[in-house]
Formats: sequence, structure tokens, C-alpha cells
Amino acid sequence: MTIWTRPGGSLAEFYSDSPGETQALGRRIARRLGPGQVLALQGGLGAGKTCLAQGIAQGLGVREELTSPTYTIVAEYEARPGGAPLPLYHIDAYRLSGGDDFEALGGRDLLYGGGICLVEWADRIRDALPAGTISVELEICGENGRIIRVSAGGDPWP
Ligand SMILES: Nc1ncnc2c1ncn2[C@@H]1O[C@H](COP(=O)(O)OP(=O)(O)OP(=O)(O)O)[C@@H](O)[C@H]1O
Ligand SMILES: [Mg+2]
Repeated sequence: MTIWTRPGGSLAEFYSDSPGETQALGRRIARRLGPGQVLALQGGLGAGKTCLAQGIAQGLGVREELTSPTYTIVAEYEARPGGAPLPLYHIDAYRLSGGDDFEALGGRDLLYGGGICLVEWADRIRDALPAGTISVELEICGENGRIIRVSAGGDPWP
């Protein structure tokens, strides 16, 4: 995995050339996550959003394997980042048509409930996301290449 670190040690821009590397990046991101954080995972079909989410779940100590919640919209897992359990919500907004749609399903309770939320197709519910949402953009670059950028409020994160 190639990592371009920035002054101050930010891990904001990556190049991954395999699903395993994308998961490894997810595990690194997980070490920096805490209660209440929301990650918007963005990128087209097959960009690797679920793959990255699997790595994040592993890094948060989730024991089950995370799968795509396309049909159920939300899947809940138990994270154990440092011992104490914390809910991890994996949300797939692909079938939603806006923040109102998500809020009508009780989405607010998830986004502001103190757990960690990973949101695929976050653009669909952009207006419902909290101000401090961390944005992760995955860009396909050939069959196995992915450029992955992590930012918050337009600045490199963390
Ligand atoms: N460097 C890479 N990182 C992640 N996935 C990769 C990479 N190279 C190839 N792949 C492949 O790309 C696909 C990514 O699938 P994944 O389900 O994670 O995408 P997604 O963004 O969640 O798609 P969807 O929009 O359908 O939910 C997998 O088939 C995986 O094997
Ligand atoms: Mg997916």
C-alpha cells in the first residue's frame, strides 16, 4: 500500500492495489474513530466501499463478517474498540431518495445516537448527515487500483 503522509502525519490520501490493502486501510482508519463519528463512504458501484467498511469493522473489534446491507438498508454490529461495546451501524443509502426518507426510517437516531456509522452512497442522504461527518472517497483506477481520500470539512483527515 502506498501512503502519502502529509506534514503532521495525516493519513489523508492512499493508493490501494488490492481488496486486502483496502481492508488494511480500514483497520488503520478504525484506530482513529470514536463514539458518534459518521463516515460517508463515496464512490461508484464496486469502488470498494463495503470492502473498506469490512476493514473498519475488523479494526473496531467486530467479530462477525460485515456484509452489504443493500436490501435491509441498515445492519448493526457490536464494536469493541477498547473493550466497552459500541454499536456500529452500516448503512446503505443506495435505495433512499433523500435525508427525509432516511429520517422517516429512524435514521436520526442512528446518526446522532453515539455509535459509529458507516454510510455507503452517503450522497443520497447528504442533507441528513452531521456537520462533523468524515468523507471517504474511493476512486477506481484500473481493475485493482483504488485512490482513497479521507477528509473532514474539506480538509485532510485526521
Ligand atoms: N484495491 C481494491 N480495493 C477494494 N476492492 C477492490 C480492489 N481491487 C479490486 N476490488 C474489487 O472491487 C469490488 C469492490 O466491491 P465492494 O462491494 O467493496 O464495492 P462497493 O463500493 O461497496 O459497491 P456497491 O456500490 O455495489 O455497494 C470487489 O469485487 C473487490 O474484489
Ligand atoms: Mg457496497
